[in-house]
Amino acid sequence: MPPIRAAITAVAGHLPEGILSNKDLESMVETNDEWIRSRTGIEQRHILKTANTGTSDMCVEVVKDLLAKSNTKPEEIDMIICGTITGDLVFPDTANTIADKCGLKNAFGYDINAACSGFLFSLTTGAQFVQTGFCKKVIVLGADKMSSIIDYQDRATCVIFGDGAGGVLLEPNEEGFGFMDAIHCGDGSGREILHMKAGGSLKPPTVDTVLAKEHFVYQEGKAVFKKAVNGMIDTTKRVLERNNLKKEDIDWLVPHQANMRIIQSVASGFDFDMEKVMLTIAKTGNTTAGTLPICLWKYEDKLKKGDKIMLTAFGGGLTWGSTYLTWAY
Ligand code: UT7
Repeated sequence: MPPIRAAITAVAGHLPEGILSNKDLESMVETNDEWIRSRTGIEQRHILKTANTGTSDMCVEVVKDLLAKSNTKPEEIDMIICGTITGDLVFPDTANTIADKCGLKNAFGYDINAACSGFLFSLTTGAQFVQTGFCKKVIVLGADKMSSIIDYQDRATCVIFGDGAGGVLLEPNEEGFGFMDAIHCGDGSGREILHMKAGGSLKPPTVDTVLAKEHFVYQEGKAVFKKAVNGMIDTTKRVLERNNLKKEDIDWLVPHQANMRIIQSVASGFDFDMEKVMLTIAKTGNTTAGTLPICLWKYEDKLKKGDKIMLTAFGGGLTWGSTYLTWAY
């Protein structure tokens, strides 16, 4: 009998209605549509504009859809994990807020702060709870309201990021489909090339930190770009190798959607066909932890039972990795 695997049995996503186009950005910072499209592949991003709403509100929409699609009652969910760096509050975590808003009365959970690798790491965490038998139904989310931490006067960052959420339901699978393998990496020595300078215990918020704009994303784009390409190629190659897979065996590559040039470099790094690469970046920008589940959600109708899927991400921390799974429905 094959081992019990944690399989995705439903996928959902939510993109807020507000749109910030490249044209809109032209009137906000010194940039232009041509530069943004050619350097990043982004045409527009979604922005959560409704007053008094945060990351949990996007996730509530995702959870409601996951429950409806899988015909699951809220009280059947055992665990909820939310990959995010833009939780509603510094504490408590957002997962418990989402559980409360959705009536997941029997669920425990927490957030995972791994930036753009947030969903990837959360998926692995959730899968362990299912595969050990500790939980039967686990919701894994990746979501960020990046507009809450972006300086819309900084052209180097404001053109890239957008808001969005996605998630999956994980359940035990006895047919051998689901989470197969993952390699995850971290390098805290690179924390200064992609971070927020203040707001934590090291440098709590003050009038000075606000005036110095230290509560926004700070990124050294070129340095992150290089590490992202090398990191994602390396872990993807290693996951392929240790599962005796050739690139031709993979039906879909699901890369973090940070920059179209990064995605193309990763695909060409192991000579992978761009036709089989999931892409949402043009319409969503970089939604940080949201990008991978949003891709799965947007491509759900193209997926077939047994499809071999490779997810890969890179982000602040630094954090990165690749996950191999097979589609279960
Ligand atoms: O998701 C988490 C991980 N993050 C990433 O993976 C992002 C990685 N980095 C990137 O995607 C790219 O580095 C950026 C999109 C952030 C920047 O693209 P780049 O090709 O690395 O541009 P650059 O920073 O080297 O800048 C090239 C030029 C500079 O002008 P000079 O010095 O050559 O005159 C910039 O000042 O482009 C200028 N520039 C812009 N021009 C118009 C930078 N941003 C803009 C802009 N519009 N928005």
